[in-house]
Amino acid sequence: MPDSSARVYATCDIGDAALARVRAAGLRLEVHASPLPPAHDLLLRKVQEPGLIGLLTTLRDPIDAALLAAGAANGLRVVAQCAVGLDNVDLATATRLKIVVTHTPDVLTAATAEFALFALGTLARKLAASEQLVRSGNWSHWHPYLPFLGQEVHGMTIGIIGVGRIGRAFAARCIGLDTDLLLHDPRHQDAALIEALQAECDLRFRHGLSREQHRVRFVDLPTLLEESDAVSLHLPLRADTHHLIDRAALRRMKPEALLVNTARGAVVDELAVAEALRKRWIAGAALDVFAREPLPPDSPLLDPAIADRLRLFHHFASGTKRTRLDADPDVGMAGRAVAGLLAVLRPETFGDPRQLPYIVNPEVLD
Ligand code: DGY
Repeated sequence: MPDSSARVYATCDIGDAALARVRAAGLRLEVHASPLPPAHDLLLRKVQEPGLIGLLTTLRDPIDAALLAAGAANGLRVVAQCAVGLDNVDLATATRLKIVVTHTPDVLTAATAEFALFALGTLARKLAASEQLVRSGNWSHWHPYLPFLGQEVHGMTIGIIGVGRIGRAFAARCIGLDTDLLLHDPRHQDAALIEALQAECDLRFRHGLSREQHRVRFVDLPTLLEESDAVSLHLPLRADTHHLIDRAALRRMKPEALLVNTARGAVVDELAVAEALRKRWIAGAALDVFAREPLPPDSPLLDPAIADRLRLFHHFASGTKRTRLDADPDVGMAGRAVAGLLAVLRPETFGDPRQLPYIVNPEVLD
């Protein structure tokens, strides 16, 4: 018989459909009522409340050693994060304290990859400026090149840094736009991926679907930065990726190059990006993620002098109804987060949790 005093605290409303599954599993669920994240001391109190065995979290919550220690002492068994990125969770401490951590890979891959491509398109084709022209009433006449022109994504050499799930999906979509690809990943070189992507380029060319033969290569980081017309980031935030795109990296890029970041804000040095745009070391950037979110009003990225070259979004790459809220663990982040939680707390629902791809530290279960 499931323990009816077992409780779960959700730091955020992740949608009724998915949350209903937590209740249906006989767990007492409390959902943080405000759309703002709970303060750290409130979270600390929550994990110490009697019966609290599960936390449903988002990337806004610092799940640090103090919180995990307090939780573990009170019987906390699982932190189920509704995001693929886990840089807000002290995973080593969770593992040491035998708390299972789960996340939501795969279900947001397509949404994030296509968003990165659309962000690149928005930037390259100056879509925001075009709309602004119409809305402001300043569109006085059609003209072949005034008041501005854009760049085509077609034919670009696109550099992809990070070729995990989302980087690969982004690469596959770029091929449909007839681009050359330069891939780099600080941790591994995937020959099979290069082969598969190249085969797709070859097929498109052979069947007359692309006019030019495009190439896919794995290269070192300096080569990627120097040769790409656009660089898209698809890396988790780790010690070795923090400020990977710094002043020196930006200096290596072409003056006409564009930078897209849908990964984590601190993978780029934001101060250096603002400087690179101001001094026109690069032509533009589209950023969906920031070192501090929401973006503080005094951020150098909000400098009006660079607004025409910089597109800013509100950590929105996975932001579709289906990807964020669907209760099916194979479709939506909410569903997958709840599945992670229940896999640990109600293993009879999902079978052996060790087999599930979204448990980050399955060794805790052994
Ligand atoms: C994640 O899941 O890590 C994304 O950044 C938010 O969708």
